[in-house]
Amino acid sequence: MKFFDNHKKLFGTATIMFVGLTLLVAIIPAINNQQKNRPLPDAEEMSPEAVKGKVVFIANGCVACHTQQVRNVEMDKTWGSRPGLPADYAGIKRTDFWRNTATLMGTERTGPDLTDIGNRQPSLDWNLVHLYNPRIVVKESVMPAYPWLFTTREQASASDVVVNVPEAYKKGKEGTVVATEDALHLVAYLQFLKQTPLPGNNAPEFLYTREGKETVGSGNTPGEMDGKALYIANCQACHQANGEGLPGAFPPLKGSSIVTGNNLQLYVDIILNGYDARPEYGAMAPVGANLGWTEHEVAAIINYERSNWGNDGEKVSPEEIKEIMEFIQQQTK
Ligand code: HEC
Ligand code: HEC
Repeated sequence: MKFFDNHKKLFGTATIMFVGLTLLVAIIPAINNQQKNRPLPDAEEMSPEAVKGKVVFIANGCVACHTQQVRNVEMDKTWGSRPGLPADYAGIKRTDFWRNTATLMGTERTGPDLTDIGNRQPSLDWNLVHLYNPRIVVKESVMPAYPWLFTTREQASASDVVVNVPEAYKKGKEGTVVATEDALHLVAYLQFLKQTPLPGNNAPEFLYTREGKETVGSGNTPGEMDGKALYIANCQACHQANGEGLPGAFPPLKGSSIVTGNNLQLYVDIILNGYDARPEYGAMAPVGANLGWTEHEVAAIINYERSNWGNDGEKVSPEEIKEIMEFIQQQTK
């Protein structure tokens, strides 16, 4: 055949097909995508620290185990308040001239999805301890430790961010563990990861609509919420399954006078609005307020904490909690 004997025609045709197909399957759809999709109006710009943290995230291969996509299926409800949209990824920019930035949507979910981790786990202390060695805070964790994101100093200086690592995990190294810039940037990136609310909060429903409050799990009495499930999902990361907390980071709820005592207003206020009263502990985020908890969740969690780990506190009713919540709200107005 003449065609195969003429190298100019042969390579010319191959080149034209390559360029044509590239235009057709890659470049035109990409331009089309960029024109169609815009970041949501409330989407936040990444801080310079978070941008550097994203590079650390990529360099350490976190995407191998963590997705950043909330699929439109029932089982993904825990990872965000709505299914992900193209707009969620429209603001992503190149890392620099030479490096494009993948969306980091990921394909493997060995660990939890991180789309909304900034809302779910905003605590700097928790994240640093967890990165140093996940087993300190989550005993069964299979996530690798990232000790190279930390250094050990004989004496921490005022500008150092100290990480409260229990002696048993220091592997014989004397001194104080402090976070490197990389670790702080990485956590800044994790804290930046929040699902952007839609304008007017008209979130599209998941394929399967949420079925009332009972999905949280039901307690002993019909209609009562499962305090244990709420505790595992929202408090256990810091206060631990055994309620003993972690010395120097998170206080114990076992034997806590706030949990079992009479100052119910303070207790409810801590659950809703967070707590930062003592220098020896980090700060607790406004967990309940962030999740929009009603008196039912708050009562269930209080009853769970008051009747476990040897705690023996009086049972509360949602009605009682509702009054206290209204009182707290009036005070803060
Ligand atoms: C081998 C798989 C694996 C890798 C690699 C990995 N993780 Fe994880 N990650 C997990 C698992 C499993 C969990 C759940 C248990 C736990 O909390 O430790 C988890 C939990 C987390 C959590 C808490 C999520 C939540 O919802 O509470 C964060 C944050 C996190 N990882 C960040 C990272 C970062 C940052 C990196 C990279 C430096 C990373 N992970 C690398 C497996 C992994
Ligand atoms: C990100 C970590 C974190 C999470 C999650 C968390 N807490 Fe806390 N919590 C803390 C810290 C830190 C303190 C101590 C703050 C201080 O004293 O300055 C605290 C204090 C408390 C106290 C006061 C205890 C005492 O005796 O001083 C109660 C009660 C409490 N938390 C309940 C809860 C409940 C209930 C949840 C779940 C809805 C929860 N916490 C989730 C970090 C956390």
